[in-house]
Amino acid sequence: MGRKGTDFELKGLKIVATGKALPKHSLTNEDMSKLVDTNDEWIVTRTGIHSRFQCREESCLSLAVGAARNAMESGGIRPEQIGLVLVASQTADYAFPSTACMIQKELGLGEEVMAFDISAACTGFLFSLGTARGLLEALKKPYALLIGSEQLSRIIDYTDRGTCILFGDGAGAVIVEAAEKEFYQKSWSRGDIGALSCPGLGKEGQHIQMNGSEVFRFAVTAMQQGISEVLAEKGLTMDDIAHVVCHQANARIIGHVQKKFPGQEEKFFINIDHYGNTSAASIPLALDDLNKAGRLKPGQKIICVGFGAGLTWSCALLEL
Ligand code: UT7
Repeated sequence: MGRKGTDFELKGLKIVATGKALPKHSLTNEDMSKLVDTNDEWIVTRTGIHSRFQCREESCLSLAVGAARNAMESGGIRPEQIGLVLVASQTADYAFPSTACMIQKELGLGEEVMAFDISAACTGFLFSLGTARGLLEALKKPYALLIGSEQLSRIIDYTDRGTCILFGDGAGAVIVEAAEKEFYQKSWSRGDIGALSCPGLGKEGQHIQMNGSEVFRFAVTAMQQGISEVLAEKGLTMDDIAHVVCHQANARIIGHVQKKFPGQEEKFFINIDHYGNTSAASIPLALDDLNKAGRLKPGQKIICVGFGAGLTWSCALLEL
């Protein structure tokens, strides 16, 4: 028997390769203090961020292609083995065609590919995991290429100290295949547009607009709930988990989430200090950093958990 409401058992997902791409230029907190009334001490104590990357010559697409190539090279994956390309982003170069189709062209993928973008703000990469899991078995090729790529500097108001210090540009990519591995995901959406938004094409004030403290409170509760429910429903405890990869929105948010799991703090991966909040790219970037550091090992169970505008949130349990 499968999960409640289904009469089939979907396979899990195996991570076969990861990659990343970052702009050459980065902005330190000192640089930010020349733009707005802020300082290194405030930013570090309130967010854990020391610097963030900023596109000068790169774009959302070029970062996405770079991350995808890096993942394919790391895993020895050939273009003809990829059957699905999903890009989670809110800062695509074009409204259409999708970044995924542009990546298809850049990477020389054949026509037997499903390629589309996912719009779910910072939760987008997590939703791409569930989408890939649902689609992979129906495809003729073994691998799905999942990318989170953001050029948030295009939609940052560099006169708003409440947001500009927080966000950074970057891209992460993860290649997955269907496998007999444990996989379980829960996702939620609240239908909220007030807490965190950015007006669309042709609208005035196309900048990130955020009620920081409201999003902060929501983020802590949502990620604690996501982790707790996934663990409980799978009959697991945090002792069974090797790594918790939270959306890197603010180190202090992750600190509050940790409080619900005392003694397990070291399992929470944090790399926001030199990336800032890269939205949909933050979880794949974290997975690549963990992977390249040799910390992802076969058989480990990991949790990826995140939240974003919408307000949406999701928690995925993966077996490596
Ligand atoms: O990816 C998902 C999206 N976003 C998030 O997850 C963001 C969640 N929220 C946050 O990370 C935090 O709310 C922020 C980092 C954005 C702000 O931190 P905070 O501790 O919630 O500060 P606050 O907004 O409550 O502001 C406290 C004070 C205010 O001054 P007063 O009114 O107490 O005099 C702000 O004006 O800090 C001031 N402030 C700053 N001071 C120096 C706000 N931003 C800055 C700044 N530098 N950059």
